[in-house]
Amino acid sequence: MIFGPNREPCSQPLGFAVDLDRELGGKFRNLWPYRILNEVQSAFWPVCFNTDHNVVIAAPTGVGKTMALEAAICRLLQEDEGTGNGRKTWKAVYVAPVKALCQQRLVDWQRRFGTRFGLKCAELTGDSAGMREVAASQIILTTPEKFDAVSRDWRDNLYLLGSVRLVLIDEAHFLGEDPRGSALEALICRLKIMKSHKVIMDKGLPASKLRILAASATLPNVEDIGRWLEAPPEAIFNFDYTYRPVPLEIHVLGYANASNPFLFQRTLEGRAPEVIGRYSEGKATLVFCGSKKGAEALATKLAGAGSGFGFGNKQVGRGGMQGRSQQRLEAERFSNIQNHKLKDLLLTSDGAVAFHHAGLTAEDRTCVETLFQQGVVRTLCSTSTLAQGINSPAFLAIILGTTFWRGTGTGYEDLPVSAVLQMIGRAGRPGYDDRGVAVIMTSKDKDLMYMSMAEGQEVVESQLPARFHESLNAEVCSNVISDLGDAIRWLRSTFLWVRTHRNPDYYTALLPRGTVCRDADNSIGEYLKAYMLRILAELEAENVLRLEKTVGLSRDGAPIENQETETIVPLVAGRVMSKTLVSFETIKILRAVPSDASLEDLLYACCGCPEVCNPVRKAEKRPLNDLLKRVRFSKGLGIKKCTHPSHKAFVLVQACLGNLEIVDFTLKVCDNPMCLISSVCAEE
Ligand SMILES: Nc1ncnc2c1ncn2[C@@H]1O[C@H](COP(=O)(O)OP(=O)(O)OP(=O)(O)O)[C@@H](O)[C@H]1O
Ligand SMILES: [Mg+2]
Repeated sequence: MIFGPNREPCSQPLGFAVDLDRELGGKFRNLWPYRILNEVQSAFWPVCFNTDHNVVIAAPTGVGKTMALEAAICRLLQEDEGTGNGRKTWKAVYVAPVKALCQQRLVDWQRRFGTRFGLKCAELTGDSAGMREVAASQIILTTPEKFDAVSRDWRDNLYLLGSVRLVLIDEAHFLGEDPRGSALEALICRLKIMKSHKVIMDKGLPASKLRILAASATLPNVEDIGRWLEAPPEAIFNFDYTYRPVPLEIHVLGYANASNPFLFQRTLEGRAPEVIGRYSEGKATLVFCGSKKGAEALATKLAGAGSGFGFGNKQVGRGGMQGRSQQRLEAERFSNIQNHKLKDLLLTSDGAVAFHHAGLTAEDRTCVETLFQQGVVRTLCSTSTLAQGINSPAFLAIILGTTFWRGTGTGYEDLPVSAVLQMIGRAGRPGYDDRGVAVIMTSKDKDLMYMSMAEGQEVVESQLPARFHESLNAEVCSNVISDLGDAIRWLRSTFLWVRTHRNPDYYTALLPRGTVCRDADNSIGEYLKAYMLRILAELEAENVLRLEKTVGLSRDGAPIENQETETIVPLVAGRVMSKTLVSFETIKILRAVPSDASLEDLLYACCGCPEVCNPVRKAEKRPLNDLLKRVRFSKGLGIKKCTHPSHKAFVLVQACLGNLEIVDFTLKVCDNPMCLISSVCAEE
């Protein structure tokens, strides 16, 4: 299947191209190195730059959606010029699903908006600088989880949240993925309600004019996202894969399943050389592997296989360097590589094969990326760290297996659509080649599913039900919901509301079986309200919040007859739950611990909470069982072998507290249980 030009006419016929020289003068013009906008950009440009509409753009990778977000920032700068307001009291918040994307945008925007327009950019993620720097910046780059957490205290952080004039959501299709999607949904609903809140309106804060722009991959139901974000029809754009500027040929290869995911991955590694040989045409190749070890193993295997993976291959991409002697000069850079395995690999393969993953130092990673960009490294085996938004010179991108170890829940999971699109989107980037090839290697039973994902046929559904208790409680604690009326308003502002009306079959857990959507009645809305009341009752039963009947008061404070309202009051357990981001399940487990529980029982209960319960990998069983023999508690509970996720947490917490040496790297970084114990101390 080929994704690219030569298409049927699109639903939004264009036939004109915006010329930035004519549209823009002065300092805005130099923001972009190109002059003529492509069809997709020419369609969204007028709405992004000349109006204040909320906008949703769904289009394939590489079409240049980033400039829509930049155009909205420019509009604010232009507005400042018009009003003579040089102080820039507003903030623009860029929300992306992963830190790597935020960091990449930070570097780019610091260079382009920082020097030219004096805009300060700051990253607000797990690794970022303090809130002081964030408060002093105009562009904040963050993840949905982090911004969700910060905006829960919006009334205490009014100086920050009240200034948010623009929210830019990149890769917005992650709305349909758990758990990031539910964080984004909760966050956007809060911002929508905050926008028209009395506190914001009365003070005339920038957030009262909040504008939202979302850029996403091609989706069948982008109109639903548009409706949810309150974008008018003329500001909702959906361009299918045929609009990709560089055609991408996609192959999905299904292989017979092995007895377990580990063995299946080994089978795929064995097939990789053959697949590279068949599809790469001797050009730059990027192979996405499921783990760090997998990336290293495949790179070593390819280097061992000799020529065919870039050795002695003089052909380089358009962006690459010409001539092997120049490449040799580049090869001198290997001397700075700190990772011995990587250095040896580069030396033995004459720089042609390398690996890239989060276990390398930042310097090593940058060095490998540069060598790949320059055409020295020809075959790069990487984990998904390299997939996010980078402009790679790869002609061929291979996804080596679509199952990955998530470390939570059931352990192994299927790659979500956003990851698949990001990875295949690295091949055939504009400016490097005039076409690209992507190969998805998966199991036979999943090849159709991945083909439909690659075509942009995956409908985005709301992930809010998975975190409904937590989201509802967070709004109660942040004062967005103070009574039943507020709760219903909040419910109506959700993407869940939009989607249940469109596709009730998907939400059978919430609605009575067989519910159909009839425009004439509002039964779905009523069912959803009943569902929400049920959740409120469950939260009340665990002392997370309290529902109180109160008499309605007139403006002068006099009681109004027959006007009873139900006020919702947050309790300490609810506040702990919202602040520490723990699940309702955890609160229930902790509340069930009797007040006279032994230390062993208390510890074991904490270790059963979902936040710390990570599945036991096969390779971890031995080191965990060794630790089990040395920790203080185990016999009282009759644990003989570490088989259950809670056993793993129980052993690791004790090993940390007892200062026992943990040799296995993945076990060593599992320090979450310690955080949880501190939150238990704050309980009622
Ligand atoms: N009109 C244009 N002319 C030439 N190059 C362009 C044009 N628009 C964008 N580009 C370049 O195309 C590349 C891809 O742009 P961008 O990253 O914005 O795409 P995207 O749609 O966000 O894709 P992705 O999903 O991969 O993030 C960038 O290097 C950008 O500079
Ligand atoms: Mg992008």
